[in-house]
Amino acid sequence: MDVRSQAAFDCEPATRALWKRTFPALDSWKEAGELSRGNWADAIDSHHASFSGGLPVGDVVDLGCSTANSSRFLADRFPTAQVTGLDLSPYFLAVAQRQEKDAMRKKPIRFVHANAECTGLPSKSFDVVSIAYVLHECPQSASRKILREAHRLLKPMGTLAITDQSKLHPALWILMKSTEPWLDEFYRLDLEAELQECGFTNYRSVLTNPRHFTATATAAM
Ligand SMILES: C[S@@+](CC[C@H](N)C(=O)[O-])C[C@H]1O[C@@H](n2cnc3c(N)ncnc32)[C@H](O)[C@@H]1O
Repeated sequence: MDVRSQAAFDCEPATRALWKRTFPALDSWKEAGELSRGNWADAIDSHHASFSGGLPVGDVVDLGCSTANSSRFLADRFPTAQVTGLDLSPYFLAVAQRQEKDAMRKKPIRFVHANAECTGLPSKSFDVVSIAYVLHECPQSASRKILREAHRLLKPMGTLAITDQSKLHPALWILMKSTEPWLDEFYRLDLEAELQECGFTNYRSVLTNPRHFTATATAAM
């Protein structure tokens, strides 16, 4: 098995370990994950209800979906929506697709193999764009392109949700830097200013667990 397909199988245990570390006092990774993802989905719901003028959540795209943990949570939270998961890795998408077959969903998640910087999806076609735990993996130049693409994809008054690492303890930062070469660039990115420049308004940012924030914003009319 080559290293890229091995990574796809490692995603699930890595995600479980991540959740367990976010709420060490909770008994299980599952509980911690549900609390973190639940707070993230609540932030999206609340932003959309406040600023989108009653626009229903009909179409959602999850940029950088990996093996679709985040996409499945979105599909469960918005059961009438068509969720699209998009990733650069065909290996992650193959695992995502296999897992989705077992879900027997009324509206199965559809998967797209593309670069989030330039997806090829139609303009103004989504009510919600999610970017979950992707930007800390990107150089600033790529993050800027992804944010512009997110704005292009959203319908006017649609909601963008970005969730990622909040400020890390310096010791953890040094540990993470060995596998995350773009962390410095990520922390130097002024997300609010970048989003404003892309045409987003109503910027909000909340901690959705002790280690991660969720920022939400509205696409211009
Ligand atoms: C940590 S994973 C995200 C996991 C998932 N969103 C979740 O919340 O469980 C980051 C993903 O972003 C993807 N990614 C990074 N840059 C990308 C790009 N430019 N276009 C599409 N996917 C990208 C990687 O392939 C990886 O699967």
